[in-house]
Amino acid sequence: MKVAVLGAAGGIGQALSLLLKLNLPAGTDLALYDLAPVTPGVAVDLSHIPTAVKITGFGKEDLDKALIGADIVMIPAGMPRKPGMDRSDLFNINAGVVKTLAEAIVVNCPKALVGVITNPVNTTVAIAAEVFKKAGTYDPKRLFGVTTLDVIRAETFVAELKGKNPEEIIVPVIGGHSGTTILPLLSQVKDVAFTDEEVSSLTYRIQNAGTEVVEAKAGGGSATLSMGQAAARFCVSLIKGLQGEKVTEYAYVEGQGEHARFFAQPIVLGKNGVEALLPIGELSAYEQKAMNDMLGTLKADITLGEEFVANAN
Ligand code: 2OP
Repeated sequence: MKVAVLGAAGGIGQALSLLLKLNLPAGTDLALYDLAPVTPGVAVDLSHIPTAVKITGFGKEDLDKALIGADIVMIPAGMPRKPGMDRSDLFNINAGVVKTLAEAIVVNCPKALVGVITNPVNTTVAIAAEVFKKAGTYDPKRLFGVTTLDVIRAETFVAELKGKNPEEIIVPVIGGHSGTTILPLLSQVKDVAFTDEEVSSLTYRIQNAGTEVVEAKAGGGSATLSMGQAAARFCVSLIKGLQGEKVTEYAYVEGQGEHARFFAQPIVLGKNGVEALLPIGELSAYEQKAMNDMLGTLKADITLGEEFVANAN
């Protein structure tokens, strides 16, 4: 098994790579790629941790070598937010980054499972899909926007509010990965009741949790450690799926298009990526309205990505 991390020397990339060095199955090759000159050093640093995961570092010129034969590619590359920025403000820089990396995936590992973390995820996943489609390699079962961070934040905040163990709380989060497109389904949390006031304040906090981190870091970037953990958990689930285990996760994927072309929903992972799309279940009136209200934004985010690739030469 080979896993490649593109953007491995950045804040998310380093946290993710460390967690993968610790949690991937023995014998896995972990290829770290980044433009930053420190990349070989990050690889050497991690290689001193005694686990049976083999680390190799690849610099600027070696993207193809990092990707060749990869079974899974995780993409945290790109610029993070600064205070006052929305995820969509990153579009101008990160759209091109994701397009370039997706083109290299087409050439070197067209069958890999690809997890996109680079923001704005609502749009960058559409960019990767369109690049793959143009090249004739697109398989919707193999492309994922990583929204696991929304799920783990929701679980943490619910547990905090209700005095529960966060590891025992499950909160479905559907939609997208930006502002109101992030829709936690609090009505589906088992054995916990919320007042209307709690539903609205928790929903707001989950939707703005990324901004909470951006503001607390005061110009030093956005979530890296919690995102690293979320992405590592998702990557390990992808691996388990490839190994024949059936694992359920939430991710932003191209499903039936019932709500939008890409939509974060529950999926079963298996040997070919998405093995099954699971129903989102019943929504409360509050959740239904929140979904109706955000679909326009989500669809516009997706169109932006589609048009970016269509208009590129
Ligand atoms: C977040 O939600 C970085 O998008 C990431 O914090």
